[in-house]
Amino acid sequence: MTEPLLSVDNLRTYFSTEEGIVRAVDGISFDLAPGERRGVVGESGSGKSVTAMSIMGLIEPPAGEIVTGEILFRGQNLLSLGEDEMQDIRGGQIAMIFQDPMTALNPVYTVGDQLVETIVLHQDVSKTEAREIAIQALDDVQIPNAKEKLFDYPHQFSGGMRQRVMIAMGLSCNPELLIADEPTTALDVTTQAQIMDLMLQLADDRGTAVLLITHDLGVVAGFCDTVQVMYAGGIVEAGTADDIFYNPQHPYTWGLLGSMARLDAVQQDRLHSIAGTPPSVIDLPPGCRFRPRCAFATDICGRILPQLREAGNEGQTVACHHADEMDLKTLAVDSSDRIVKQDEVVS
Ligand SMILES: Nc1ncnc2c1ncn2[C@@H]1O[C@H](COP(=O)(O)OP(=O)(O)OP(=O)(O)O)[C@@H](O)[C@H]1O
Ligand SMILES: [Mg+2]
Repeated sequence: MTEPLLSVDNLRTYFSTEEGIVRAVDGISFDLAPGERRGVVGESGSGKSVTAMSIMGLIEPPAGEIVTGEILFRGQNLLSLGEDEMQDIRGGQIAMIFQDPMTALNPVYTVGDQLVETIVLHQDVSKTEAREIAIQALDDVQIPNAKEKLFDYPHQFSGGMRQRVMIAMGLSCNPELLIADEPTTALDVTTQAQIMDLMLQLADDRGTAVLLITHDLGVVAGFCDTVQVMYAGGIVEAGTADDIFYNPQHPYTWGLLGSMARLDAVQQDRLHSIAGTPPSVIDLPPGCRFRPRCAFATDICGRILPQLREAGNEGQTVACHHADEMDLKTLAVDSSDRIVKQDEVVS
């Protein structure tokens, strides 16, 4: 077995707010092999971005805090590093691409200056060499007239082109890990597909591992080797893309995939609405977090938070006390987004 590139162990990231403690990420563990492409899916508020920010060392105290856990990157615990060391890793060995490139690009500097600065910061090269690398990087992401474009400011680029710049910047230092958080949601559908293809092609060429956070299950199916499904700060199911798409074991995964029949009249519109009811991650009751939406919950579900265990295919893991007991094909989603048994409902 190859050593994992990234190993997250029992990570908990909490925020103190006026309403209480937000347990945004609450005890997740997963590994990422070198070159692996892992999709992270789950409804809004499930802790996907906080996972990414935790790995990048971007959780801001005092409100935000990583309360327990380890994040090993090439065997080194990132949580024990100081800000200077973390800065070296950020943008160097680990790059991140955000949903909105304008938040990451500085509007008062040219794109060229920002690229050159990043390159000089992470690579042992002169400014002139960095300029050449910058031009090549823009060229790689198919920005026409890369040489002249260096002198343009971010606002002179279209949204799609700005995201290409971000990818160029992210990949210019040949990171081993690229974290992309909804990298294309702000773009139109055609541009989304182009950017996604480009990003994943470049990652493929370089053997870069990718942690891809997205709502787009089509993208996950097309590009990811493995998938983790998140719900209320935890991972409820993980496996290969095939496991998740063809043999899901958690009722929530089924609902998310839209494979579950809906029992309400407005079926068409509501097909994916199970993905749209975020559970609160403040004052979580004990037990399974999916329990309020699951008609199969028993006594144990109310007492013990289920941990990931093997179910379904070999290597596939599911956090459900009843994983092997339910025939998911007989389940359905009712009008209040609860998982119920089809034949027990009179409609
Ligand atoms: N800085 C913060 N302060 C307080 N709460 C926060 C902060 N950042 C995130 N949270 C909370 O943590 C939880 C997880 O948020 P996160 O951004 O990881 O969700 P997500 O899965 O990325 O959702 P989306 O799909 O909408 O991007 C949410 O309840 C969110 O409100
Ligand atoms: Mg997010």
